[in-house]
Amino acid sequence: MVTKTIAQLFDLKGKTALVTGGAMGIGKGIAERLGEAGANVVIADINPEQGQKTVAELKAKTVKSAFIQVDIRKTAEIENAVDFTVKTFGGLDILVNNAGIFPFMPILNMTEDFWDKVLDTNLKSAFFFAQKAAKIMVENKKGGRIINVASIDALHPTGNLTAYDSSKGGLVMMTKAIALELGKSGINVNAIAPGGIQTPGAQQGTLTMMQASGLKPEDFEAMGKAFTARIPLGRQGDPDDIATVALFLASDASRYITGETIVVDGGYLLS
Ligand SMILES: NC(=O)c1ccc[n+]([C@@H]2O[C@H](COP(=O)([O-])OP(=O)(O)OC[C@H]3O[C@@H](n4cnc5c(N)ncnc54)[C@H](O)[C@@H]3O)[C@@H](O)[C@H]2O)c1
Repeated sequence: MVTKTIAQLFDLKGKTALVTGGAMGIGKGIAERLGEAGANVVIADINPEQGQKTVAELKAKTVKSAFIQVDIRKTAEIENAVDFTVKTFGGLDILVNNAGIFPFMPILNMTEDFWDKVLDTNLKSAFFFAQKAAKIMVENKKGGRIINVASIDALHPTGNLTAYDSSKGGLVMMTKAIALELGKSGINVNAIAPGGIQTPGAQQGTLTMMQASGLKPEDFEAMGKAFTARIPLGRQGDPDDIATVALFLASDASRYITGETIVVDGGYLLS
């Protein structure tokens, strides 16, 4: 039954969002769109300089915004970031588990520390953020949204990214498991699986991949071209390609979707 206009469906006024890794890249793009739709936005990031800069940019666009420094690998800091959000804006309605790392490492060189760092950052943190946010959402009895930024690597592996691919595969299943349990509390839990998106992290990943694999810059350029050539829509993505989908998942337009992963890759996985 149609009860809301399109503008009302996407209106996030009065809602509060927490975006992990919102200082730059995809997280920054998501913070901008949620803020534009009217949400208060907390940027939770390990990088204070970049995080404060992004908050200043949001404030300049009249978005109510605040920064909290957090290393998402530490559960005490996760608790603190959610408490800070509730203290600053009076609640938490939308959690975006976006922060993640994607360092390359051939299987034979993988160490336990490396594995733990990737899994703690990309998977464990998302669980404890979701748990803490869900406690607030259940207590407030207003429901909520949890959006996990996974990757097409959750569905299709890339060489030298075993720890990353495992963490993102776990995140997709965790999305379903949490959605199943929290549906009765009116909390929708979904994931986005981006393809190749041009961000500072992706650029850095390119460098580490070159180092890990011993590729020369010209070989790497050829690989980049081959990757783009496989994308049916003919280009790599930018953060706003993901941010608009996150806005949809945060909005009432997606109210009957939960436990789902939306692939946003320009069709890469089709080819
Ligand atoms: N860029 C891509 O092509 C791509 C593709 C698929 C999935 N993704 C996923 O999207 C998400 C964002 O990627 P991006 O390309 O924007 O990365 P990015 O490196 O450009 O930005 C990541 C942000 O997370 C923050 N961060 C990293 N470790 C942190 C920690 N321990 N605690 C708190 N903050 C931390 C960084 O400071 C940074 O602001 C990641 O989860 C990534 O796996 C990216």
